[in-house]
Amino acid sequence: MAMRSFASTSTLLLRARPCTFTLLCRHHSSGPPPIFAPSGSTSAHTEIPYAEPNLASSAYLPPQPSAPPPEQLSPEATQSTPLDLTPEQRRLLEEIIRVDQAGELGANLIYQGQHAVFARGKDKKLADIVQHMWDGEKKHIAVFDKLITQHDVRPTALYPLWKVAGFALGAGTALLGKRAAMACTEAVETVIGEHYNSQVEALLRTFPTNHPSIPLLRQILQEFRDDELEHLDTAVENESQMTPHHALLSALIAAGCRGAIGVSERV
Ligand SMILES: [Fe+2]
Ligand SMILES: [Fe+2]
Repeated sequence: MAMRSFASTSTLLLRARPCTFTLLCRHHSSGPPPIFAPSGSTSAHTEIPYAEPNLASSAYLPPQPSAPPPEQLSPEATQSTPLDLTPEQRRLLEEIIRVDQAGELGANLIYQGQHAVFARGKDKKLADIVQHMWDGEKKHIAVFDKLITQHDVRPTALYPLWKVAGFALGAGTALLGKRAAMACTEAVETVIGEHYNSQVEALLRTFPTNHPSIPLLRQILQEFRDDELEHLDTAVENESQMTPHHALLSALIAAGCRGAIGVSERV
């Protein structure tokens, strides 16, 4: 029920006027910044955050030195891939992991591009908002780097292209101003959030649950979907819908994202 309502809510969000937005969306946390492990980096050349207790992603992230011992998952859940999948299930699993790693790479580069512009400006609060969202994407890419290895999935061959395209989109919209940058975030996070949602539904529909990596993957997709919705909230709160030509800009960026998703699932 909740998953279905997300898709319709995010669609409404694209159309919602700012005054109705607060009635539709959740509170988003502007909680403390993440703490990063002292070593290691992701495939997006970003830091790796420590695990947050009680989140599914903690299965793949380093625990904070001072944290109590994490709940022990079966090693199968994080270290092996199901061997009894049908060809259709295997294809779906590979598509999900390949496209999500590519999407998270793109998201990291978009925020990196926006931050590169805003960090040079006078509005430090804006740079901090973008930094906070970028830090969330660092968690996502760190987890998908682990998943792609665990499930022995080939990364997208278009990794270099998405890096350039993501940074250019982020920096380009930031150069147009805060509202255009937030409109970019709104469009991208809507598409990615809906995409995660459809993947959760596909896993529920298509997969047996006797291998523990599959329910764990589903929980991670749900966690990340909610993170993306939080970024979407942030963008609308920061006047994304007040940018000139908002509908056109949103449609163009969303179409680009959907095209990139379609290509990255297979290539
Ligand atoms: Fe993300
Ligand atoms: Fe995001």
